[in-house]
Amino acid sequence: MPFTDDVRSRLQAGPAPSDPVRLPARRFVDHSFYLAERAEVIGKTWLLAGRVDEIARPGLYMTWEKTVVPLLIVHAVDDVIRCFYNSCRHRGAPVVRVPRGRNRALRCQYHSWTYDTSGKLVSVPDERDFVDLHREERSLVPVACEVANNAIFVNEDPATDLQGWFGGVAPEVAGIESGGLRTLDQRSVTLPVNWKRVVGNLLAAPPVPPRPGVDAPAVTAADVEQLDGGHLRVVAPFDGAAARALGLAGPLDWAAVEDDGLPSVPGLNDMLRSTSTTYVFFPNLFVTFTPSGVLNLAAWPRDEETTLLEATWLAPDWGEEDSPAGHPAWSVRIRWAQDRLDAVAAALEGAQDEMKEPARQGLSLQDDCEAVRLWNETLDARLGDTVPADSLTGAAPGEVRSPLPG
Ligand code: FES
Repeated sequence: MPFTDDVRSRLQAGPAPSDPVRLPARRFVDHSFYLAERAEVIGKTWLLAGRVDEIARPGLYMTWEKTVVPLLIVHAVDDVIRCFYNSCRHRGAPVVRVPRGRNRALRCQYHSWTYDTSGKLVSVPDERDFVDLHREERSLVPVACEVANNAIFVNEDPATDLQGWFGGVAPEVAGIESGGLRTLDQRSVTLPVNWKRVVGNLLAAPPVPPRPGVDAPAVTAADVEQLDGGHLRVVAPFDGAAARALGLAGPLDWAAVEDDGLPSVPGLNDMLRSTSTTYVFFPNLFVTFTPSGVLNLAAWPRDEETTLLEATWLAPDWGEEDSPAGHPAWSVRIRWAQDRLDAVAAALEGAQDEMKEPARQGLSLQDDCEAVRLWNETLDARLGDTVPADSLTGAAPGEVRSPLPG
């Protein structure tokens, strides 16, 4: 049976009861907990760093510091996308200081050590002054980097290759030709709150982007399933009114609907076209499909109480034509993305300080927060015994209050 039939069956049956989730306050405020996340999760996971269209030609490069660690991503002259720590092998200065540029060689501004785009040290001024300098031992330090459908992923310490990390999501999205997508709009907001609160907010109310003619579609209770690799699939059917406005007979009548007047993303199945479906790639990437565009939301922990939340709209490549960003439907979506970022910021205002109050023991989430529970338990499993037991999901009494927007 196709997995979409399983999803529909569960939606017809209605949500199964689940236990309330208790999240100790300590996991949101403790610096050592953040350091463990940095070491065991962020530093060992494939992370979406951008798209090839951002460095489309050989010689183009971009710096990338979303995880605070300075990295350098290069479209090398042999047409391979590579990633390095942006740290010179002489005295550690940044090799590249401008966020984007183009050059066939990477020259450190300090003392002009120069590297080629494969990371090899190729030139050292006054080389004879350096005793025992072996250039081959001073290449830029590489970071694992793979490209899938024109998306660039990096991983400081991979346990699997990128396809292995995709896990159970891979077969479900294999038919989608996302390689032909291009960045249409990107915007971000920096929030003074722990990244798990941001992730929790998104998990409890995944994005429901507007569709042409339906600016604010409503959805019914979602089906949540955890897939191999710890990733989640969250399928929210539109309610009756929104479904009918999209030309569907009802919330569970899934068909090959398209967005009026906009080119389609090739390969989407009917469920992705007819619902608001989000795949949550553990730990920080939310990918929501519409027939004519894909929304990526990513939450980047900067420290234990600062998060960068980024929204990126991808659309089918428009070639040499003008960007479709000015199309009325895309204008609505871009404005909606900004509103969504602003709404998360508003919902979490003051949330970090609340967690520091001495009386605050933690959070109790309502029983409709299955996705939040699954995500936090996956995080705990990755952290293992590197964090105190009393900071793990369910370990402490919580408060009877949801931190999530109603
Ligand atoms: S630190 Fe880069 S050349 Fe000296």
